Amino acid sequence: MADLRFSLQLQPVQWADGSLRLLDQRKLPAEETYLLFDNVPEAAQAITDMVVRGAPAIGITAAYAMVLSAQQHQSTADYQAKVKADMQTLAASRPTAVNLFWALAEMEKVLQQYESADWPTALLAKAVQIHEEDISANFRMGALGAELLQSGSRVLTHCNAGALATGGHGTALGVIRSAWQQNKITQVYADETRPWMQGARLTAWELLHDNIPVTLQCEGAAGHLMQQGLIDWVIVGSDRIAANGDVANKIGTYSLAVLARHHGVKFMVAAPTSTIDMQTLNGVDIPIENRDSQEVLACGGHALAASGADARNPAFDVTPADLVDFIVTEKGIIEAPTSAKMQSLLTA
Ligand code: MRU
Repeated sequence: MADLRFSLQLQPVQWADGSLRLLDQRKLPAEETYLLFDNVPEAAQAITDMVVRGAPAIGITAAYAMVLSAQQHQSTADYQAKVKADMQTLAASRPTAVNLFWALAEMEKVLQQYESADWPTALLAKAVQIHEEDISANFRMGALGAELLQSGSRVLTHCNAGALATGGHGTALGVIRSAWQQNKITQVYADETRPWMQGARLTAWELLHDNIPVTLQCEGAAGHLMQQGLIDWVIVGSDRIAANGDVANKIGTYSLAVLARHHGVKFMVAAPTSTIDMQTLNGVDIPIENRDSQEVLACGGHALAASGADARNPAFDVTPADLVDFIVTEKGIIEAPTSAKMQSLLTA
């Protein structure tokens, strides 16, 4: 049986002695460095700069950052206005992962429910709850998703939807961890995931620490692997799922879904309900982050491209619901998602 102690200990977002502590994911796997934050502008910048990344982890970070805001401004003039301005700063840190806006909305409810003198304590209690519930949701999704896999499955994952992208344990990697423990998986493939290399740097790092072997390939190899009959499942996370089941995730996910359908490979999305955005009716309306072209033109600080070349750098794409076989949430599984099925899962 796989030893999952590492994934249980690995918490990229921590609250320590009144400060926010983030594992600097830009430095992994070479260095395990933690950075401490005591104010919102720096925490928001850390989200933008990918110190912390992954939809649920970004939401949890924003929740703790709101506690920093209340602590910092508590005894100053315009306390309430400063806390609200900090909330706007956090909301502007990255556009696609709806968990960020969901967590801020949860924190705003606390601001409305409590006297401002009680905000630091009440906000911290809410942030801890959001964090703990995310970890429990991951374990539940892991168990549910693993039930769908047949013994001997070979799975392909993209980006990093693991402990590093969440409160702990992971969404897609939570499913892979559970299924691995049940001896249902014989092979895990991970796309390296240009341009930030989340697959090569982060997914491989955390799976190997749990003694789960992983084989990397550049994402352009996925079609070839499927054509060779080497993949049974694609399992990914999500940054935002629209009301009709369209799924935004790391750039390259849509290509995998098209390939999977062509080759008869099953396509599973594991995401907590905090990733579902019922206000966005379909994927066309999901805001897609476009990042700096330098991230494509260079890698790890080394220039790659011919000088003078331009680059496009969309960070996410949208997979239409009809290419998704299963959405696995902590509240249950939706097969072949539609608006009606999404609605009934959330209201059950
Ligand atoms: O740009 P990133 O690294 O924040 O993108 C992360 C992803 O696309 C993940 O797949 C997604 O957030 C799901 S994480 C459980």
